[in-house]
Amino acid sequence: MKILITGAAALVGSHFTQRLAGDDDVLALKRADLDITDVAAVNSCVAAERPSLIINCAVVQVDEAEQNPAKASAVNVDGPKFLAEAATQFGAEIIHFSTQYAFEGETIGRAPYTIEDEPRPVNVYGKTKVAGEQAVRDACARSYIIRTSWVYGSGKNSFLCTVHKDLESGKHVRAIDDIGSSTTYVEDLIDRCRQIFNTRHYGTYHIVNAGVCSYYEFALEAGRLLGIKREQLDSLIEVIHERDMKRMAARPRYTPLRCLLSEELGFAPMRDWRDALAEYVKA
Ligand SMILES: NC(=O)c1ccc[n+]([C@@H]2O[C@H](COP(=O)([O-])OP(=O)(O)OC[C@H]3O[C@@H](n4cnc5c(N)ncnc54)[C@H](OP(=O)(O)O)[C@@H]3O)[C@@H](O)[C@H]2O)c1
Repeated sequence: MKILITGAAALVGSHFTQRLAGDDDVLALKRADLDITDVAAVNSCVAAERPSLIINCAVVQVDEAEQNPAKASAVNVDGPKFLAEAATQFGAEIIHFSTQYAFEGETIGRAPYTIEDEPRPVNVYGKTKVAGEQAVRDACARSYIIRTSWVYGSGKNSFLCTVHKDLESGKHVRAIDDIGSSTTYVEDLIDRCRQIFNTRHYGTYHIVNAGVCSYYEFALEAGRLLGIKREQLDSLIEVIHERDMKRMAARPRYTPLRCLLSEELGFAPMRDWRDALAEYVKA
């Protein structure tokens, strides 16, 4: 299969590229190779390459989106629309990633969000991602929208990706304890996407590891898995609160996800976040 990956330098895009490269003909395009907001470039690329599948991993993230809504709209809404239109025109399917930030996350402890819950994003990122989902659905009937949450894996400099290494080297870390969500090990995300793709069952999926935690609980578990004693973890991890952080964009407070389509298709539940984290820490 010929697969075109956009935003291929990203966490999800780079891992997808590595995982698929052995079996498929993968064209991994970074922003310098293909700017998804350039409709002419998107069309000529898809027309020339004729992929069977487009995987869009390009995104403008949360604080940048709040700071630059026009750019967020271009990358998170227009770009996915151009890719989905090109997919339809040249006979490809499309996988497009979205986010738990589709939801407002106001109620701590509530049941996980499903596709039956109405999106109610609280920031520019969430609003543009929800609009991008709809643009893809409208433009391409053969589309998979994959909402995921707090993704981690090797190669990215973010709290979830690096906290275990920081703790192992005795570094002090600050961890937020008053927001919770589902977490997602990038390798598990890719496994499930491949499984979904094999069904050709188009729709909106919520792909995350089972369970919910805060950043603080994630850090504690990473430390425990490394064999670091609790007293030492207490001195290494400083607890901080989202409510005290003066961030550019508001964050939803509690956004666990549940996938009704995976249940309908009879997929095994995704493994618990602690088991996925254990594999990551070991790797
Ligand atoms: N990471 C998470 O925790 C998380 C959670 C929920 C959902 N998701 C979703 O998962 C997907 C992938 O996220 P990620 O964390 O892997 O992304 P990421 O690491 O933040 O990387 C985003 C990539 O998009 C590229 N990009 C930006 N503008 C572009 C453009 N105009 N054309 C082409 N590429 C462009 C960036 O390139 P430059 O670096 O050159 O700008 C970067 O490589 C996104 O749809 C995101 O919404 C991620």
